[in-house]
Amino acid sequence: MARVVLGVAGGIAAYKSCELLRRLIGDGHEVRVVPTRAALEFVGAATWAALSGQPVAHAVWSDVHEVPHVRLGQEADLVLVAPATADVLARAAHGLADDLLGNVLLTARCPVVLAPAMHTEMWQHPATVANVATLRSRGVMVIDPAHGRLTGADSGPGRLPEAAELAAVAESVLAGGVPPRDLVGRRVLVSAGGTREMLDPVRFLGNRSSGKQGYAIAAAARDRGAQVTLVAANCALPDPAGVEVVPVLDAAALQAAINARAGQVDVVVMAAAVADYRPAVYSDVKVKKVGGGLPVVELVENPDVLAGLAASRRGPAPLLVGFAAETGDSDADPLTHAWRKFAAKGCDLMVVNVVGDGVAFEVDTNAARILAVDGRQWDVPHGSKRRLAEAVWDAVGAVGGGD
Ligand code: CTP
Repeated sequence: MARVVLGVAGGIAAYKSCELLRRLIGDGHEVRVVPTRAALEFVGAATWAALSGQPVAHAVWSDVHEVPHVRLGQEADLVLVAPATADVLARAAHGLADDLLGNVLLTARCPVVLAPAMHTEMWQHPATVANVATLRSRGVMVIDPAHGRLTGADSGPGRLPEAAELAAVAESVLAGGVPPRDLVGRRVLVSAGGTREMLDPVRFLGNRSSGKQGYAIAAAARDRGAQVTLVAANCALPDPAGVEVVPVLDAAALQAAINARAGQVDVVVMAAAVADYRPAVYSDVKVKKVGGGLPVVELVENPDVLAGLAASRRGPAPLLVGFAAETGDSDADPLTHAWRKFAAKGCDLMVVNVVGDGVAFEVDTNAARILAVDGRQWDVPHGSKRRLAEAVWDAVGAVGGGD
């Protein structure tokens, strides 16, 4: 349980703060909502008070004996402002403290995350650009807004990211602090999900990969400043804000999408579960059930995308990150298998999930070990997929893929 101050500024996206508040409460946190006066034009204080079970005030003149203008910021584990308007960014950058939220931002010693939402013109205005740069230089995490439909008919960058994404950022920052902006100017390619190898127009061989880990890796890279392309194989997930998403179906399409872009990027992270085999024959009409014996599906091998990238590299770029889910067996323990796979793939980093009854390591499936080609290893304790994503980017930085 952490103490979170949820600041809400006066933009239309203020309504989304209710969903975010529910998620933060659902994650077990104690949340105090601190709106600006303008935010109260969009959402009534009673809504946040009822959802949070905490009093809601925007001015410094309520409950003065409890000195909330100092105490709230001092005692918080995280201050998250969503949405943050251009006005709040400006006030935060200049240290103005004419309301409770301004005071909280000045007294907070904990991580501060601002999630801006505004019209594109305001986001791109030099004043806002300068304010965001100032805040980031002071260690504040300012999340880039999503592209998409804004209030009215216009669209562009300026939307508040979805509540689920913001809650994931909150968890990660609570666990590991504000991530560095070490991928500014870098281009990153991430694969996610699981391929489907079609037998006929309605049937396929597939796997249960949801794509959540790859999406978390893409979102974390974006928040560290990278330009991100996500090759997504059959993921039922909303597009991460500000990330180019390329949907693909099968291993062949995934390989084509990755190979077409790998030459222009600094890092490739292969988080997708790529099928090792596909049906030798694809029937373009639905295969009928026939009597007299069971059908046999002949398989042929798919190309290994990651190994192919490693083999065709003509220098250190792009840096290649592979994933491996391993169990132990009678032959070897999971980490021995992982080191063998790492060597066979020829990548620079390997993220190993030890799954099932690992003989050597009793670890949760969310926990991982990151192996570097120079022999270094990092243990990532049980935590969220976003937290593991940050650890992957930390490791990329450590082996020279960041700046
Ligand atoms: N991979 C790939 N192309 C394939 C299969 C896997 O690029 N045809 C990548 C995955 O994206 C992952 C890594 O290789 O980053 C390891 O995947 P995994 O399925 O564990 O490896 P395999 O070589 O298929 O080994 P296993 O025999 O354990 O299935």
